[in-house]
This record gives sequence, C-alpha cells and structure tokens, in this order.
Amino acid sequence: MAIDRENPDTKYILPEVVVPPHPQWPKLSEAETATLKEKIKRLLKEQDAVLVAHYYTDGTLQDLAEETGGCVADSLEMARFGTEHQASTLLVAGVRFMGETSKILNNEKRVLMPDLAATCSLDEGCPYELFAAFCDEHPEHTVVVYANTSARVKARSDWVVTSGIALPIIRHLAEKGEKILWGPDRHLGRYVQKLTGAEMIFWPGSCVVHEEFRAVALERLRKIHPEAAILVHPESLEAVIALADVVGSTTALIDAVRRLPNQEFIVATDKGIFNKMRQVAPGKILLEAPTVGEGATCQSCANCPWMGMNSLQNLAEVLASGNNEVLVSPELAAKARIPIRRMLDFAAEMKKGSGCLSSS
Ligand code: 13P
Ligand code: SF4
Repeated sequence: MAIDRENPDTKYILPEVVVPPHPQWPKLSEAETATLKEKIKRLLKEQDAVLVAHYYTDGTLQDLAEETGGCVADSLEMARFGTEHQASTLLVAGVRFMGETSKILNNEKRVLMPDLAATCSLDEGCPYELFAAFCDEHPEHTVVVYANTSARVKARSDWVVTSGIALPIIRHLAEKGEKILWGPDRHLGRYVQKLTGAEMIFWPGSCVVHEEFRAVALERLRKIHPEAAILVHPESLEAVIALADVVGSTTALIDAVRRLPNQEFIVATDKGIFNKMRQVAPGKILLEAPTVGEGATCQSCANCPWMGMNSLQNLAEVLASGNNEVLVSPELAAKARIPIRRMLDFAAEMKKGSGCLSSS
C-alpha cells in the first residue's frame, strides 16, 4: 500500500473504477412505450410490487413510479419510502446501494433491480477490506459512511448518511465532541467539515459524474447568464461548490428551482434531475453546468452510466421473471440496519412526514 499524496489521511490506493459506456437502449415508438408501461403496471399489481426510482433515472421511469403509486426521490427518501409502503416487493430503479439499502431495511420483502451491475464509483472505490483497515487504524473515531457504499461497509460504520442529512448529523456529532472518520466521498466530506468545523479524516473516494464539473467554465457560463442561480450537488469539486447559490441533495436542488424567484438555473448534477425540475417549475430555464468536455474527454458527461442501466425494457423483464433479486444475508442486514436506522430516526426527529416527501 502506498501513500495517496492527494489525500494524506489514508495510505490506501483505491482500485481503479472502470466507468462503463452509457447503455444504448433501442429507441421505442410511442406505441411500444405505451405497451411496455401497461405491461409494467399490470405486473406491479400482480406481483404486489411498488416502483421506487431515483431522480437520475430516465424520466419515463420516474413518471411511471409516480403514476403507479410509487416514489421518485433522493436516496434518503427512497430508503424511507420502502419501509413505509406495504407492498411485498420493492422494485428499485437506481443503483445497487439503493437496492441493498432497501433490502437491509426490509429483509422480509423481495427487492428487485432492473440491473444488478448498476453500481456507483463511490461504492466501487471503497472496498470493505481496505476501508475496515482504515477504520481499525483509528478506533477513537466515529465512522460515518455515505449511503453510496456496500452493505458490508455500512455494517462497519456507526452512522450512515445521505447528502440530504449529512450536514445536520455531522454537526450533531461535532457538538458532542466526536472525531469523525468519513467515507467515501471526499468532496462531500470536506464540504460538511468546512460548514461544521468537525474534526474529520477522509477516505479518498469520489463520484465520476460530479467530479467532471468545472469551475472555470461554470464562471464563464455565469457571465453569460448573470441572473441564473447556480445549483450544485455537494459531490462536486470544492471550486465548483464555491460558486454555488444552493448546495444540496437532489431534493434540495429541485426545491430550489421551485422556490427561488430566478427564471434561470445552472445545474451541476446528473441531468436526469431535469425531468422533475421541469415539472415543478415549467416556465423556468434550466442550463447544464459545463463538464470537462462532451464526448472526447468526459466519461459521464453529467449522466451517470450506472443509473442509465435502468429502462422500461429491463424493468418489465425483471418483474415478469423475478430475476435480479437483491440479497443481503439476515446477519449482515441486521448489522448494517443499525447505522441506517440511526439516520432515519434522526431524519424523523427533524422532519415528521408521511407518503413520499420528494414527490410533487
Ligand atoms: P441524493 O441522495 O442527493 O439523491 O444523491 C445520490 C447520488 O448518488 C448522487 O450522486
Ligand atoms: Fe454514484 Fe455518482 Fe452515479 Fe450518484 S451519480 S450513483 S454518486 S456514480
């Protein structure tokens, strides 16, 4: 193991994360789309299933989730919604950690995902053995992990957080004088540290999508659109966050579009989010924040390739076949559930609510 110079907190070199190409789904005609949607609606009923989708998935899936009494949400609300819905099958359209979190919280339910290969660079960049060794080296630290991690990494933690709740939880721990070992997203970690003053050490992980937004190009775009509010997800680079008018979870960014008086917004997060933003603020102008360069140099181009693995086609397939069940052993789930429940209980204390908080 060698020193990672960029991230002096750890001496671990992360495995290289292979970013897959964007899946190319065959283009469906209107009639084909309608037929598939009807099939999924029928199967959802037959299978006593509910569709829970993330804001980065294809807009058609997001809309279908809402039309069928499911939920489109950020990762915190996706986790919470599954625990409160009575369906015996949760169909999770998102990435693997979201399906795993649902299974951990609802071990008695069947959890299906359209594609089990839909992972996340943060999860991939935080292998259990290395992360556990980092934790073992710092036994005096409270271990706080982002939800974008494997079940085993969650089970090794004291707290799980999502971007929607990281700030108040770290503030709470800092006020109690706890030293924090944070993983895996270093940018979100530094952001919450800056705002809370917490004593923190970091695992050097990152999101391949958000790391591609660029501050210099963003400043240039702002000069062209001086009235635009800049909305940034906190997995972005510090220099990009520094230019933001609003920094927050996907839900917080959607709320900003709805709530702020601005007519124009520059959005630094996955472009899947535009579907909900357009619905909540139809007349407003939404601009994509610039990345390192379309095609030639950007890997994700503001479009998570793993989220793109969810489509109407494979959603219908898994519902019909029952394939792609997410499995987490009851023993592991019991361990990982403790820090996730801690987060959900903390969130419930902050905000009492019912139904799908994120849907409009
Ligand atoms: P949210 O919890 O803000 O939806 O973020 C999840 C995620 O994967 C962002 O890249
Ligand atoms: Fe993971 Fe980034 Fe994709 Fe979110 S956008 S799922 S953090 S790779």
